[in-house]
Amino acid sequence: MSAPKEAWSSRLGVILAVAGSAVGLGNFLRFPGLAAQYGGGAFMIAYFISLLLIGIPICWTEWTLGRYGGRQGYHSTSGIFHALMKKPWAKYLGVIGFVVPVIIYMYYVYIEAWALGYAVNALVGNLSMEGKDYGAFFGKFTGASSDGVALRFGLRDVGIFVLIVYVLNFFFIYRGISKGIEMVCKYAMPALIFIAIIILARVMTLGTPDPMKPDQNVVNGLAYMWNPGDVAAGLKNPQLWLAAAGQIFFSLSVGFGVIITYASYLRGKDDVVLSGLTATSANEFCEVGLGGLITVPAAFMFLGTAGIVGQGTFGLGFNVLPQVFALMPAGHLFASIFFVLLFIAAVTSSLSMLQPGIAFLEEGLGIERKASVALLGLMTAFGTLFIWYFSKDLKALDTLDFWVGTVMLFVQATILVIIFGWGLGIPRGWEIAHEGAEMRIPNIFKPIIKYITPMYLITIFVMFLLQNVFGWNYSLTDPIFEPTGYTKDLIGDEPNNVARLSVGFIIIVTGFALVFVNIAGKRWTKNPPVPLND
Ligand code: ALA
Repeated sequence: MSAPKEAWSSRLGVILAVAGSAVGLGNFLRFPGLAAQYGGGAFMIAYFISLLLIGIPICWTEWTLGRYGGRQGYHSTSGIFHALMKKPWAKYLGVIGFVVPVIIYMYYVYIEAWALGYAVNALVGNLSMEGKDYGAFFGKFTGASSDGVALRFGLRDVGIFVLIVYVLNFFFIYRGISKGIEMVCKYAMPALIFIAIIILARVMTLGTPDPMKPDQNVVNGLAYMWNPGDVAAGLKNPQLWLAAAGQIFFSLSVGFGVIITYASYLRGKDDVVLSGLTATSANEFCEVGLGGLITVPAAFMFLGTAGIVGQGTFGLGFNVLPQVFALMPAGHLFASIFFVLLFIAAVTSSLSMLQPGIAFLEEGLGIERKASVALLGLMTAFGTLFIWYFSKDLKALDTLDFWVGTVMLFVQATILVIIFGWGLGIPRGWEIAHEGAEMRIPNIFKPIIKYITPMYLITIFVMFLLQNVFGWNYSLTDPIFEPTGYTKDLIGDEPNNVARLSVGFIIIVTGFALVFVNIAGKRWTKNPPVPLND
């Protein structure tokens, strides 16, 4: 049986690579932050339902579609949809599979640079600039305090770290699938788990750090995260369901266009069912078992409820935790180790966001790998520069994360599951999924994938649009439609120019991508790639 020109060298390698893509900032920052914000138990119920109804089913569909496409010689989402549907419009449905990872990479790598910068600055004791003012360091380092302020290159600035992470990511991606991505993940994933366990052991053995505040102990810290609270009230909140579903997407890298591309480099009959489940389980272990037990309990034990509430994802990770570590013996060292953990988790994810773009440039435009790497480097550097410069209140980053990292993810995931359930069809999809499989997908997932997952996604998405885009307050008797949040930034009375520029940027990138897909389609019709021999 032949393998794609580029392929994973081992089964463990591909599982670690997919798990590496999944385990990232989402596990150690986003998940604990959201769970704490939505009051623990109720959020966890919505989270696990979303895992079962969205995460696991879409994961299997992506793995299956990816391997199918790879056999036909395609590795990009557009190419795979083109090979599968054999309709002229199908390739355009895959455009998000190019846009999403490329744009998420642009800002994700910026946060990755913060993690590296914080690891170094924690070690040398630079994080608290004026007395205990960790916020001042964060504001200047990330540029959240004003536009342009982060474009500097000293040790206390992010510049040098952005350059380092760019060089690292592009060096490894240049080396390719097995010598680059697979090799990094083989070392990084065990290292990450090892470091997370050290930090977890430190946090779990803190007991009652301040005897004057006996309530702020480890047990109550865990309870803060896990106690059910008022479950019924929590579950009635649509925002909680949106947050839980969004977290499942973000965390598993589902709908990113990453898993489908990674799976296209499998060999012909490699198992996708068990591999998909294993990678998902590894992510959940890191998220719920490690991430969930570190950040929130640590902040609670030292700073109480005030240390957690209203901190937001980055505030909790980058402002609160350095203060927490500073209160521990050998705090500088543990803070530095924690940020190394974030950095490693982020690298394996950001690397995965580059491969779909490269695959598309190679097969769609016929650009050879080295040139594709260079071109993608240039494109993403331009975007990162934009986010890096327009950093005040992290506006550009935040706006891109909402429209691309949330809205487009929903759309892409919905397209994927509908193509699998209705385009390919469940009987054929099941047959392809089970070739070489070492376990069977339980039959209950047939109706789930065909009906429940799309309906669940569409319902959540409509609620999401109503609330976040049209600003409906969900009241039938006294409805209010007012642009809120991200929409208000665009069309409210006082629009925000950076938010508008960011959305303009997304539209331009998507426009170019559509043109590229059009060119690619002509190439594929005239000169289709050679399928693998089974
Ligand atoms: N799945 C990646 C994360 O959790 C993007 O950070």
